Amino acid sequence: MTATTAPALFETLRVGRTVLPNRLVMAPLTRMRATPPDDLPNDLMRDYYVQRAGAGLIVTEGTQVSPRGKGYLDTPGIHSPAQTDAWGRIVDDVHAAGGRIAAQLWHVGRVSHASFHDGALPVAPSAIASGGRTSVKGPDGCPERVPSPVPHALTPEEIAATVEDYRAAARNARAAGFDLVEIHAAHGYLIHQFLSPTSNVREDAYGGTPENRRRFALEVVDAVVDGFGGADGVGIRISPIGSFNGVEDPDGQATGLALASEFAARDLAFLHLSEPDWVGGESLSDDFRTALRAAYPGPIVAAGGYDVAKAERVLGGGWADAIAFGRWWIANPDLDVRLRTGAPLNEPDKATFYGGGADGYTDYPTLR
Ligand code: PHB
Repeated sequence: MTATTAPALFETLRVGRTVLPNRLVMAPLTRMRATPPDDLPNDLMRDYYVQRAGAGLIVTEGTQVSPRGKGYLDTPGIHSPAQTDAWGRIVDDVHAAGGRIAAQLWHVGRVSHASFHDGALPVAPSAIASGGRTSVKGPDGCPERVPSPVPHALTPEEIAATVEDYRAAARNARAAGFDLVEIHAAHGYLIHQFLSPTSNVREDAYGGTPENRRRFALEVVDAVVDGFGGADGVGIRISPIGSFNGVEDPDGQATGLALASEFAARDLAFLHLSEPDWVGGESLSDDFRTALRAAYPGPIVAAGGYDVAKAERVLGGGWADAIAFGRWWIANPDLDVRLRTGAPLNEPDKATFYGGGADGYTDYPTLR
């Protein structure tokens, strides 16, 4: 990305109960640096987020709502009191640095591995493998990519218990002081697995028709709104179009628009749209953007392969209200300052994206 200034990115924006001083969102990215064996947020993670407090909104890395929701090495949780306390210390320090932060509530569903679950299978709407891989601890302690197995199909009772896990995690996020929560319903993880007929072949109330396939997502939304204490604190991330972790919804446009209407009816704080570009997919059409805007009049955060020119076009078209950057925030802790002043950007080092220590995490230089 070449550095140019983009004035539209530096206007304020109200997102539910929170006012953002700029429209630059730090997109959630898996970083795998929590402390084992209890998946605890730690001081290294705090430093990472505090360094990036200039973002209008930080969305945390995916944070599992239950032990079963974990699918990658050393991702943090938000299901235990110790995790909640540890997140609270991070939130306090981000606030002290002037930032705002949303917890991303995550359940990976079938994109997991028995080694995370004492040998038990990951769970999903149906017993269909993702065909993809996840990261476990290799023999040298470093992340190693392994295929995800055929998952266990959740029973109705287990679905109800999973919804309660989201409610409890949202309560924990509120106790930790997060400004907002973001439900991760994108990228082929559990909620997306329910939405698509390629991963959900259930014959009960959670499968079969598009409305039934949306049921789990909406039960989670309602539980999280209840747990966090109001829809004005709850956003959701979707990627209805494109292929992620083996989930490709043949009716993705219709699914996305139907969901957007449901989220609008509930007055959710924001809709975070992950576009197919970030994994090399085709750009969204302007027609789809226009239809999404009509279905969801609240704040739309757009993510996926953005540079400043694309950000200006999409903000200028009225199709989104804020832009989430991922990789550029990894490499530029002061991305807000750099984009405001047109300063050059540090290039991200892919080799250090996942796992490890401070290397490629908290050691990228700022301008000063
Ligand atoms: C990943 O770790 O590859 C990953 C995690 C969460 C996402 C997307 C990708 O939303």
